[in-house]
Amino acid sequence: MYIGGEVVSKYIIHGGNKLEGEVQVSGAKNSVLPILAATVISGETSRISNIPRLRDVEVMTEILTSIGAKISKDSHGLVIDSKPINSIHLPEELVREMRSSIILMGALLARFGETIVTYPGGCEIGPRPIDLHLKSLRQMGAIIEESHGFLHCKTSGLKGCDIQLDYPSVGATENIMLAAATAKGTTIIRNAAREPEIIDLQNYLNKSGARIQGAGNSIMTIEGVSSLKASDHRIIPDRIVTGTYMVAAAMTNGEIIIKDIIAENLQSIIAKLRETGSMITIDGNSMKVKAQNNISPIEMLQTLPFPGFPTDMQAQFMSLLSVAEGTSIINETVFENRFKHAEELVRMGAKIKTFGKVAVIKGTKELTGATVFAKDLRGGAALVLGGLVANGTTKVENIYHIQRGYENFDRILRSLGASISCV
Ligand code: EPU
Repeated sequence: MYIGGEVVSKYIIHGGNKLEGEVQVSGAKNSVLPILAATVISGETSRISNIPRLRDVEVMTEILTSIGAKISKDSHGLVIDSKPINSIHLPEELVREMRSSIILMGALLARFGETIVTYPGGCEIGPRPIDLHLKSLRQMGAIIEESHGFLHCKTSGLKGCDIQLDYPSVGATENIMLAAATAKGTTIIRNAAREPEIIDLQNYLNKSGARIQGAGNSIMTIEGVSSLKASDHRIIPDRIVTGTYMVAAAMTNGEIIIKDIIAENLQSIIAKLRETGSMITIDGNSMKVKAQNNISPIEMLQTLPFPGFPTDMQAQFMSLLSVAEGTSIINETVFENRFKHAEELVRMGAKIKTFGKVAVIKGTKELTGATVFAKDLRGGAALVLGGLVANGTTKVENIYHIQRGYENFDRILRSLGASISCV
């Protein structure tokens, strides 16, 4: 089932329009993916609402369908019946297309005690190893053999244990939560990732009968239960999509209202955007972003695990800082190779130099339209933001990367006054 938008290859943007109006944020991609994976465990029916229409979500539903799940739409989202799942072998092509399908390892081990999955390999933002996932699952009693590019994972029963993560990896924390939900005994995760999407996964699992505590903190406790049951869950709003529209308003000297936000999840983005001069006001679950004429530089923007500034907003802020009045420094500490958008922004006239994980951005008065290539999801969004303020026409190629994470991106930007079309 394809729930994404039309297949298009490039955006054409005529820069210079202020963004004004209201935007409703969709559900969080990075919540819905692990939660869809988690629906495998119960062998019951889950109703998940506020599902964003994205290619990544489509890939996850295709994977679940390919192993036997019955998935249908209702008026709110998706209804997933995982009872008929009858295969532990994840389809190679789809796993390669979406690295986060590795999250199904924990879920299938929990349900069937076995899974075979293609090694996901590297991706455009760096090598992205899964050593922490494998080490933790092995500690819980999984036997994992790696050969010919496949991972064969088997267990005669997962056991709760005390896991000290070397790094607060989001995916590893989620895989452990899934494996531990129905394991025998109690699992403790120390140095767990604290991202809001971990809390959302905990909430879904607990509604399904799991006993998990501590999401949002560094130490989590998962008391294994014998089985999970059917449940309903609404996905939290996407904080990165929200952040991207916030930057769009700030860059275009605009004023927008963003609906369905969780302010608590956005604090680091709000703080940094305020440093550049934008006025941000929160009213319950709605936020107003009003730009000021001049964008101030940021002395140091460092990406960190939550509650630090998100790596998934680094590229968009690089676009913003390209047109700031002064020099800014970005230090990307989470991923090794996440500056590919810099050279594309340079084609648009930005003055950016990168040195390993550090980028120095000397603000310039004006970007100029150019043909640029989206090389990854957030970097692609950053190029669109650049195009919104560039003088002349910008063509952003390879926009399938952007469509992996932004629902109706061009339509929403158009509704706010941007001149952007798909070709
Ligand atoms: N890492 C390891 N070993 C592991 C796991 C991770 O060395 O076993 C390293 C990674 O290579 C990376 C760092 O730890 O340098 C952080 O990786 P993490 O595991 O936290 O990230 P992830 O689970 O692979 C999720 C999001 C990413 C987001 C990161 C960080 C999903 C589906 N993906 O990835 O989202 O950037 O957390 O917040 O939740 C995006 O949406 O554009 C995106 C890339």
